[in-house]
Amino acid sequence: MEKYNLIKFESIGSEYVGSLIALESNKAIPFDIKRVYYIYDVPHRVRRGFHAHKTLEQVLVCLNGSVKIRCFDGVRDTTIVLNRNDVGLYIGPGVWHEMFDFDEKTVLISIASEYYNEDDYIRDYEEFLKYIDII
Ligand code: TYD
Repeated sequence: MEKYNLIKFESIGSEYVGSLIALESNKAIPFDIKRVYYIYDVPHRVRRGFHAHKTLEQVLVCLNGSVKIRCFDGVRDTTIVLNRNDVGLYIGPGVWHEMFDFDEKTVLISIASEYYNEDDYIRDYEEFLKYIDII
């Protein structure tokens, strides 16, 4: 499996009744879900993230609005636009990620494999480069 990749979710419904997306552990979401958090009201100029995780896996979904996510796994360096609620961005361990260009109305939800644990964060870029063993 790639260290980060897009996942397309199945949407149930129609243009007449609207849409529903169900996300379950080890189905659309490729791990056991332990935590969900969401980010909103982020001013356009603000960039967030700037970290990688040692073990945490997560899927980011932009439920409303638009946001750009830069992901770097030591090999691939990609900026992905998230602006659909039927697409998730899986980010595994060892992926440096930065979130920017939030719209005023952006709601970004994260579905995560672990409880919040600051010890799982790598917030220093040099430390990240050492962690992924490319320097
Ligand atoms: P942080 O991870 O720095 O946010 P971002 O990656 O979006 O820039 O988290 C911001 C603050 O929120 C920080 O003090 C840690 C806290 N926090 C929690 O208490 N629980 C959580 O589940 C998360 C994700 C963050």
